[in-house]
Amino acid sequence: MSVVSLLTLASLLLAASGQQPTFSRTSNRDGRCIYSFTVPSPVETSCSELGEAANAVRELQRERATQQREVESLGERVQVLERWMAGREEAGGHEARSDVRRLQVEKLDLLRRLERAERENARLRDGQCPGLRETPLESHQIARGGRQDVFNLSSRQRAQPSREASSWSFENTEYQELKSEIITEIPASKMIQRSESGTSITTQQSPGCGMLEWVGEPVTFQKADSIAGRYGVWMKDPEPVPPHSREHIWRINTVGTDVRRLYEYQDLDQFMKGYTSKVYMLPEPVESTGGTVYRGSLYYQKRRSRSLLRFEMKTETILVQKDLPHAGYRGAFPYSWGGYTDIDFAVDELGLWVTYSTNQAHGAIVISKLDPNTLEVEQTWTTAIRKRAVANSFIICGILYTLNSYSIQNAVINFAYNTNTNSSKALAIPFENRYRYNSMVDYNPAEKKILAWDNFNMVMYDIKLSKI
Ligand SMILES: *[C@@H]1O[C@H](CO)[C@@H](O)[C@H](O)[C@H]1NC(C)=O
Repeated sequence: MSVVSLLTLASLLLAASGQQPTFSRTSNRDGRCIYSFTVPSPVETSCSELGEAANAVRELQRERATQQREVESLGERVQVLERWMAGREEAGGHEARSDVRRLQVEKLDLLRRLERAERENARLRDGQCPGLRETPLESHQIARGGRQDVFNLSSRQRAQPSREASSWSFENTEYQELKSEIITEIPASKMIQRSESGTSITTQQSPGCGMLEWVGEPVTFQKADSIAGRYGVWMKDPEPVPPHSREHIWRINTVGTDVRRLYEYQDLDQFMKGYTSKVYMLPEPVESTGGTVYRGSLYYQKRRSRSLLRFEMKTETILVQKDLPHAGYRGAFPYSWGGYTDIDFAVDELGLWVTYSTNQAHGAIVISKLDPNTLEVEQTWTTAIRKRAVANSFIICGILYTLNSYSIQNAVINFAYNTNTNSSKALAIPFENRYRYNSMVDYNPAEKKILAWDNFNMVMYDIKLSKI
């Protein structure tokens, strides 16, 4: 039952009793959502009608809980299926192969149902005001005052993010890809309610800054030779500190359950030949492709957590570990390709940033400017761009740009959000996913280029910025 039908029910109940009800929904400062039914009370009456309205609200909560269980049981079935498939694959032979094919079809079907159940869950959740998200009905009070009965239903937002279907531990790339195929290409524009085409976006007065106007063709520099390199991240340091220089390149292959190897290359030539100059073993495993190198440190998200880490390469130690407040992780708000890309670092002319989402933001992209020494959040912006609906993002001169697809060859940069003016703008700048599976897209402010990891391939794009 939706909130709308609940309200209709409440009004009918109250109208039938010959009274003039009013209804209001408000959120107070600490995020509590308050539903108020107000009816005149000329005489002392029972609150039975109001009691029924409360029942209807409880019904709504129960329906959500049922949906949640459905999502969870579907997830368990997918896991069981995957174990069978692994067994049949080992068995080999013609019959086993046809079993595997059948199981693959069944798995795809299960994943589709899972996705539908998740969507239904989100719909139920989004039909309510923010304070009611993911919460059991906490309390309802009936207050009487003078000539009115006031009925409040309130609930408080839970501090922890909800357990989401996508937070199950599927480690293989296949699951992540199948899942992403199903959820991809939800129009991001649905989140943009205000028409902002007339807004002029101005940028901070940094040298060489401007709006992105054009992205060139990808140039391929290296190709990973094992499945571990299907996704990954490659980086250069825009502000290196000795012993490193602007020439150095770092790379992490991110497929696997315990990703800890950071490869270092002397320069582009060595990188293209595949000769590493050093391999760091990271003290904590890496989650996905969101890392970046800046001022001699690798910044990355610790696996299965919202912890941000600063690994200093010179001392090979983690200097700072800090939780990113309220950030969703482990598949709560990934980019459309999946891959647990919940938290993505970025570096631009203005410094270090992190892009993510929270329950409070309903999955919209949240950007925080970070102090690179302490990883403290300095300032935060909430955009109207749905994170799951875009394939990736990067920041140039304080402006966040989003990519509409990770897999179509003729993709476009579809939105810009300017943290200088807090305004967004729809764009259509062509961007080529040459190898049709882009898992990382980062801007490098020293090179003034975009680095990306497209289906085993490490590529670079020229860009053009407008003059201010
Ligand atoms: C933009 O939003 C930030 C963060 O919410 C706020 O601190 C800042 O004052 C806003 N700036 C403008 C120009 O509205």
